[in-house]
Amino acid sequence: MAIPVDVHERTGGQNVRRIVYTQEDIARRVREMGREITEHYPRGEDLLVVGLLKGSFIFLADLAREIARPIHVDFLVASSYGSGTVSTGEVRMVYDPEASLTDRHVLLVEDIIDSGTTINRLIPVLEKRGARSLELCALLHKRIAPPLAREARWVGFDAPKEFLIGYGLDHSENYRNLPFIASL
Ligand code: IMP
Ligand code: MG
Repeated sequence: MAIPVDVHERTGGQNVRRIVYTQEDIARRVREMGREITEHYPRGEDLLVVGLLKGSFIFLADLAREIARPIHVDFLVASSYGSGTVSTGEVRMVYDPEASLTDRHVLLVEDIIDSGTTINRLIPVLEKRGARSLELCALLHKRIAPPLAREARWVGFDAPKEFLIGYGLDHSENYRNLPFIASL
């Protein structure tokens, strides 16, 4: 895979090992996922799409536009340690969605599932909120996690077991704005 010439500009000179998913790969897959999600949910029933920040912000922005039915969008910031403000069981909700989950279909959008810790801590908290359904959509899944509290119904790509950056994914807050996904 040829590395686009502007990669060094984009990364501030950092060498990326290789491009794992190009902008085109991602766009194609996100379009497919949007179509599947659109078809999955019954017409006329509320769908709330909840993005896990920060990593999902670009994926969610693209995915939301490929879901061809009415949706509401909210966000959630969870932290297992650090300076959270609201402690809800084992997970700290640094930002808890304003929207009520009660009686609505809830689709949780995650950038990447690695160890599964985030999802395993979050799902039990969200399960108590009376959603009509609770599903998980992840752009990337490393498939190294032990069985999850909730397996993702939609996965963009089974990712290589490498550290990935770009398209929302960071390394020390850098590289989130790369339009492709690369291995560092
Ligand atoms: P988990 O809790 O181990 O499943 O990890 C989930 C979170 O860790 C993701 O939402 C990412 O923010 C981060 N993460 C895991 N793997 C990577 C990676 O390869 N690159 C960048 N961030 C990652
Ligand atoms: Mg991160």
